[in-house]
Amino acid sequence: MVRKALLPVAGLGTRSLPATKAVPKELLPLVDKPAIQYLVEECSRAGLDDVVFVTSAGKSGLEDHFDRLPGLEAALAAKGKEDELALVTGLAELASIHSVRQPEPLGLGHAVLMGADHVGDESFAVLLGDDIVDPNTAFLERMIATHERTGRGVIALLEVEPEAAKLYGIASVQPGDADDEFLVTDLVEKPPVDEAPSNLAVIGRYVLPSTIFEVLRDTPPGRGGEIQLTDALRTLAQDEPLVGIRVDAPRYDIGDKLGFVTATVSLAAERPDLGPALLDWLRDFLAGQDAASGAASRGGSA
Ligand code: G1P
Repeated sequence: MVRKALLPVAGLGTRSLPATKAVPKELLPLVDKPAIQYLVEECSRAGLDDVVFVTSAGKSGLEDHFDRLPGLEAALAAKGKEDELALVTGLAELASIHSVRQPEPLGLGHAVLMGADHVGDESFAVLLGDDIVDPNTAFLERMIATHERTGRGVIALLEVEPEAAKLYGIASVQPGDADDEFLVTDLVEKPPVDEAPSNLAVIGRYVLPSTIFEVLRDTPPGRGGEIQLTDALRTLAQDEPLVGIRVDAPRYDIGDKLGFVTATVSLAAERPDLGPALLDWLRDFLAGQDAASGAASRGGSA
């Protein structure tokens, strides 16, 4: 049974500056929840009740977010703010939260290795904070079930434009048991467009056997001089193919500024308390934009 999740959260968030100068990127809010809360809720829904953050200096706010806060709870109770009180106390019940430090930024593979003692000899999930998967889907549950059925490492694959290969780990695949499942026989981290073995990119959800830690210990620095998780997965895949599952759920790269905005709009649009009013406003806004660009092009051609 898979019950542990490892969340590497030590990064500096440079793609999201200036927002991330003083605030960890994982605490930036998407609607009214910090991004990290979507990930921990996803873990909790999938039955992963033990979450370990791999952190660095300046990230203690992440653990605070999931801790009890007696002063705030007492103030909310005294004011009769029961709904807000439930929101705050519920956070501490999502999972048991632990943290380990990654003392130096030596790469994603190195960050995962920092969790080895905590994870021990159990299979575990890895969730990367830049990737938000639509909360109304059970994609991680499916990955875990596939791992439990096959015993193999399971990774999430997304079809991307060829030019985007340089941003991702890219998989070499053979057909798998279902239309949207593949056997992954090899991987390459961020290849140039002409060296990409496919258009299937690895996104930030992995369910892995604990043997990955032994492999990571022997994995030399790769692309960018960093110890890459992709290189360790490649070694695993050469022993026995991994299973790749095509992501069928909406997924947002919130490390990208446009991705962050579209995630915010889309998550708000799905909320019963905000969605209808937001969609009304968006329709008006788009009609106004269309009218303005129509007037500009008529003005331009006069
Ligand atoms: C990491 C991995 C890469 C993967 C990507 C998914 O890269 O190294 O293989 O495709 O996450 O988001 P990063 O985006 O951290 O540079």
